[in-house]
Amino acid sequence: MHPASVAVSAGRPTGVGEPLNHPVVLASNFRGEAGDYSRWIGTPTWQALEDAVGALEGGTAVSFASGMGACSGTLFALAPRVLVIPSNSYMGMRDLVAELQAHQLLEVRWVDTADTAAVIAALPGADVVWLETATNPLLEVADIPAIAAAAAEVGAKVVVDNTFATPICRRPLSEGATVVVHSGTKFIGGHSDLLIGLAITTDPEVHERLRRSRHVNGTTPGAMEAFLALRGLRTLALRVERGEASAQALVQRLRAHPAVDDVRYPGFGAMVSFVLRGGAAAADATCRAARLVVAATSLGGVETTMERRQKYAGDSHVPPGLLRMSVGIEHVDDIWDDLLQAIPAV
Ligand SMILES: Cc1ncc(COP(=O)(O)O)c(C=O)c1O
Repeated sequence: MHPASVAVSAGRPTGVGEPLNHPVVLASNFRGEAGDYSRWIGTPTWQALEDAVGALEGGTAVSFASGMGACSGTLFALAPRVLVIPSNSYMGMRDLVAELQAHQLLEVRWVDTADTAAVIAALPGADVVWLETATNPLLEVADIPAIAAAAAEVGAKVVVDNTFATPICRRPLSEGATVVVHSGTKFIGGHSDLLIGLAITTDPEVHERLRRSRHVNGTTPGAMEAFLALRGLRTLALRVERGEASAQALVQRLRAHPAVDDVRYPGFGAMVSFVLRGGAAAADATCRAARLVVAATSLGGVETTMERRQKYAGDSHVPPGLLRMSVGIEHVDDIWDDLLQAIPAV
């Protein structure tokens, strides 16, 4: 089946007389003598979301309290001594890795993810390679199949953060990754109303270690969050296809705009970063003047959001005038009209 159909149909009850959607099961405890406690065995509500995301990514999923819960849970599960990771990966991930490094729990090799030869050169002796389908916020793309093949030769596992591409645009497990992680907070949930994370793998042993990681660390998702994330997931394909089509149109228009210096787009998905000639002042003014586009930090919702990223210490390496935009499902001409009135003239 096509991903759009999987997103709609996976993770549903199938018995006659059952509801079409698994209900919100609010339970820490289950009757019986088997020690069935939800932190360990999960709940039917988490399971439904895990079944659907697992089917979409082509593996089995474990849900976590947030995207960072999934990222830290995956590191815990794989327990690398040496990690290769893009020097411009998501700043939350760099924070986590820096903490582990400071505690001497991890040796870190920072690489330029778009430079496949440099990534491969950093592999000998590494246990895990961490990639993002498009880096946040510079939107650089790694050659996953080439890196995964080289990693397999040295016995390293590849983890791919697929938050930006979503399984509608990329399926890294089919390209050689062992684990895919998501901030389900973003496109999977799709409505900016929850925090959740997911880790998906094709390896049964890694799946068991991910479950155990959630159990011992207690990074469990909320029942309502899991329910809402699955409800959001039902429309993932529609939202991503619409956002992607609009993003591609906006990329063309932004490239022709006299105030825009550079436009970054990975070629798929709904994320676009663009740099204003007027630098930080022009980018801040654009965020303040926008009416339809929401000036906000998160992404992947039905609403278009944008943010100047260099204001964060963790993203001080990006151009001062860079705006990262998550294109929502509004009409593309309305988004464009809003940008036109908000971007200061040069
Ligand atoms: C690429 C990426 N991975 C992981 C995360 C962390 O997700 P969460 O905020 O749900 O913990 C984010 C959050 O912005 C992200 O952009």
